[in-house]
Amino acid sequence: MAPPKKTVCVIGAGESGLAALKECVLQGLEPTCYDLDSDIGGLWHRKESYEHSNTPAVWPSLVTNNSKYNMCFSDFPPDPRDPMFISPEQLMDYFKRAIKHFDMGKYIYLNTRVVKVREAPDHNLTGKWEVYTSPNDVDSATIDLSRCRKETFDNVIVCSGWFKRPYYPDIPGLKDFKGSISHSFTYSDSRHFDKKKVLVVGNRFSAAEIASDVANLAEQTFLALGKGTWIVPRLFRGGTPLDYNFSRSMVWSTDPEFDFNELVMREACGKMDHFGSGVGCKENPASSPVSISDDLPVKIAGGKIKPYGHLIEIKGNSAMFQEGNTIQNLDAVIFCTGYRSDVSFLDLKIHDDDGKMDMYLMAFPLNRKHNTLAVVGYYGSDGPMVVLGENQARLAASVMAGSHSLPSQEVMARSVEFWNKASYARRPGFHKYGIPGFAFMDAIALEGGFYPSFWKLLLRDPTLAWYTWYGPYMAAQYRLLGPGSQWEKAREVCYIGYKEGLQCIRHAEKKMVDRPDIRRRRKTRIVRLLGLSVFMQCIGSGLSPELTAPYIKRLKSQFLAETQILHPTRFKEENSPSDFPGSVN
Ligand SMILES: Cc1cc2nc3c(=O)[nH]c(=O)nc-3n(C[C@H](O)[C@H](O)[C@H](O)COP(=O)(O)OP(=O)(O)OC[C@H]3O[C@@H](n4cnc5c(N)ncnc54)[C@H](O)[C@@H]3O)c2cc1C
Ligand SMILES: NC(=O)c1ccc[n+]([C@@H]2O[C@H](COP(=O)([O-])OP(=O)(O)OC[C@H]3O[C@@H](n4cnc5c(N)ncnc54)[C@H](OP(=O)(O)O)[C@@H]3O)[C@@H](O)[C@H]2O)c1
Repeated sequence: MAPPKKTVCVIGAGESGLAALKECVLQGLEPTCYDLDSDIGGLWHRKESYEHSNTPAVWPSLVTNNSKYNMCFSDFPPDPRDPMFISPEQLMDYFKRAIKHFDMGKYIYLNTRVVKVREAPDHNLTGKWEVYTSPNDVDSATIDLSRCRKETFDNVIVCSGWFKRPYYPDIPGLKDFKGSISHSFTYSDSRHFDKKKVLVVGNRFSAAEIASDVANLAEQTFLALGKGTWIVPRLFRGGTPLDYNFSRSMVWSTDPEFDFNELVMREACGKMDHFGSGVGCKENPASSPVSISDDLPVKIAGGKIKPYGHLIEIKGNSAMFQEGNTIQNLDAVIFCTGYRSDVSFLDLKIHDDDGKMDMYLMAFPLNRKHNTLAVVGYYGSDGPMVVLGENQARLAASVMAGSHSLPSQEVMARSVEFWNKASYARRPGFHKYGIPGFAFMDAIALEGGFYPSFWKLLLRDPTLAWYTWYGPYMAAQYRLLGPGSQWEKAREVCYIGYKEGLQCIRHAEKKMVDRPDIRRRRKTRIVRLLGLSVFMQCIGSGLSPELTAPYIKRLKSQFLAETQILHPTRFKEENSPSDFPGSVN
């Protein structure tokens, strides 16, 4: 008789939780997934109201900042009919199709809050965990554990999200502000700001996108950027989605920081003068805030949004800045200053008080006797979070299923130190893990044995090997090799992705349009060039001045006549017809 399947409690049914659930199903584990929300999808599930929400808001104009080929699972491609950047609704639809495809619905329990996770009494021996749940309509602050449902699981995967609470900076005078104060955590509609004077505080994605959205209706929008930012569009040069511009050859080059800076500065400065406009940051992009927005440069150039620096004080309805300027008569302030995490239900310390985490690949807490608890999606990153989360979940499930063993504590500790350093170098401070996402995705895949190695691919499909190294990152690449790979299917998705992304949007169509105007212009240029070279030949071959003089004279007078086109006297009434070009003899 086969041994009973190992049980896993997956906490959360957002994109990380669904990835974990899928991997448990695929790797022969017995999962149970709890989410306190009334639907799956985590923050992509748009709520009616965000007042008591457990996930930050998504607003009507929001679309993903990575292409659909990086907003999907590696083994379940996006809908070919979907656009390159998808809306929360399209992503929700994708998740629901994935649930059906992998038959995961029967494992998901909604409206259920995980109240406590703690070691089972025999944990030291078995590695098991006790999980306490309660219906979500019970007030979480007053829940009595003895009235909760208690279950014991062999393993736990925590996927409860990184963005849990709004973070407000401590601004003197804010409490006495007469207008409205809100946070991107609850921003779901620009209509509240119709004809208002609005100050948006922050210097990353939410600030850039929300300021642009508000500016459509507000009388005037101001943006307090602090130390500034680099604003890149979603579509890079040639119309390629921005994530298609990150290749392994760049990420694993000898100086990836240099390449990153070059790319971001080229795209950011190609759209707007960052310093003339006042949005620029003095540090290079690898160590400063970078935002994604297609609208912001135009809104700033059009005066709808005015950038400011460090907000230091609010007095009445005025905002004061370190640089010495003041904005008066403000109606509203929206803080887009980030979030704080919360895993208070977990009876295990997974980070220090300063936010530093000691978790191998940000998933496995160090120095545990049993690797029966993993955390997925618990960090900020510039990479596609779905793919990062799926890679972590795949590794976690393989460890829990017993098909993969983690390295020694010493090796794991060295890796933790490396990623902590890489992360803090980019965004120092409490809870600001800015994991270099693309490199991190590969690092997890290397540990799990599903890294798409150039040399291994070269033997099977040299073109694909070339694309995988010099072309864009794509989720499906992680199904090309290693455990759980699906060579034919993944290869096909990769080729479709390359084709669609690299010939993306209008760019390809423009090339295909017949351009007789370009052909005409080229013909004229060639004729002129030929004429000029014959003329130079004539002079150079020493033709007698008697022969060339009339031609030179004619050219000279023609030149003088042409310059008269722009001369003001040309337009005077008293000019005789012979003043006009063309009547020169
Ligand atoms: C506005 C916004 C836009 C973003 N856009 C992008 C983007 O375009 N591309 C990208 O890659 N990333 C983006 N991100 C990053 C984003 O965080 C991730 O893409 C992703 O949503 C994280 O998924 P998750 O499942 O880890 O967390 P969440 O989506 O937060 O899901 C966590 C789930 O856990 C549940 N949960 C929490 N606690 C408990 C509990 N105690 N008991 C039971 N259930 C619980 C919650 O209800 C929730 O459903 C965006 C983030 C924000 C805030
Ligand atoms: N798909 C989309 O279009 C979209 C839209 C929005 C958000 N997102 C995602 O959501 C996540 C969170 O993004 P976010 O922008 O909300 O939060 P964030 O990345 O945490 O950024 C918040 C920023 O606010 C800055 N800040 C803090 N106090 C400030 C002050 N007093 N003045 C000026 N700036 C201040 C912080 O600067 P310091 O670092 O210097 O403290 C930080 O850079 C990201 O993963 C992003 O990808 C995606």
